[in-house]
Amino acid sequence: MSDENDDHDDENMPDGTTSGHEDDGMPAIEPEDNKRRRRRGGPIKAGGDKRAAKQLFERVKTARGRSISSVRWLQRQINDPYVKKAQMEGYRSRAAYKLLQIDERFHLLKSGMNIVDLGSAPGGWIQVALKKGAAEVVGIDLLPIDPIKGATILEQDFTADEAPDLVKAEMGGQADGVVSDLAPWTTGHKNTDHLRIVALVEMGAHFACEVLKPGGFFVAKVFQGGAEGELLEMLKHKFTKTRHFKPDASRSESAETFLIATGFKG
Ligand SMILES: C[S@@+](CC[C@H](N)C(=O)[O-])C[C@H]1O[C@@H](n2cnc3c(N)ncnc32)[C@H](O)[C@@H]1O
Repeated sequence: MSDENDDHDDENMPDGTTSGHEDDGMPAIEPEDNKRRRRRGGPIKAGGDKRAAKQLFERVKTARGRSISSVRWLQRQINDPYVKKAQMEGYRSRAAYKLLQIDERFHLLKSGMNIVDLGSAPGGWIQVALKKGAAEVVGIDLLPIDPIKGATILEQDFTADEAPDLVKAEMGGQADGVVSDLAPWTTGHKNTDHLRIVALVEMGAHFACEVLKPGGFFVAKVFQGGAEGELLEMLKHKFTKTRHFKPDASRSESAETFLIATGFKG
């Protein structure tokens, strides 16, 4: 992931792999430069400059073969108050606080609701929906998720043709809310990444319009500066109210923000 594209808030990177998203998410495909830099390291020869050898050892020891962006991600995670809070309060991700803060502001999640969570790993949003009393939560992610009591979890690509029907089948009826924290794997190529993000959000929105009950809501992570024009128009047409909201838990340097569409017209 190139630094310039560092606009997601990574958090579900338990192994600290290369971070592409600042926002919760996704290891990016490691830039060739980093790989080359690592390959150039080479073994330390006996009798060489001891200081240089020590420095190299320290660096390797710290980074343990990780890329620069991965080490940066780890450092940020260690110092992030929401990471600590999540650990203390038993949430699987700092992303949980984004949904909690969205809900604090808009009062969306209510007891007995059926919720679909798109892009769920490691499961923070599912935990929040259940904590707020959801009767049924169906989550879907490319990545495996440890089971969460009360939730149905699908390890599946949401963009696959069969995915929407699989989620609907698990839901067994209409949903009160669809929440999407989907963030695609990034390539480091800004335009490509941007198009992939927009495509995922659009898919989420169309899916929401298929499964929501009248009065239902749709929450989706989007990126500022994104080509959301058409999507916004569609949501304004289908929902009573559509607005943007950036919770405190979303890092200020991140371009991420959330679309909150309420009052689905059916
Ligand atoms: C920011 S993380 C979600 C964090 C989650 N909301 C939480 O609270 O723990 C974004 C997720 O989107 C998932 N994702 C990206 N593209 C996907 C796709 N095509 N299908 C399913 N999941 C996808 C990633 O695997 C990643 O786990």
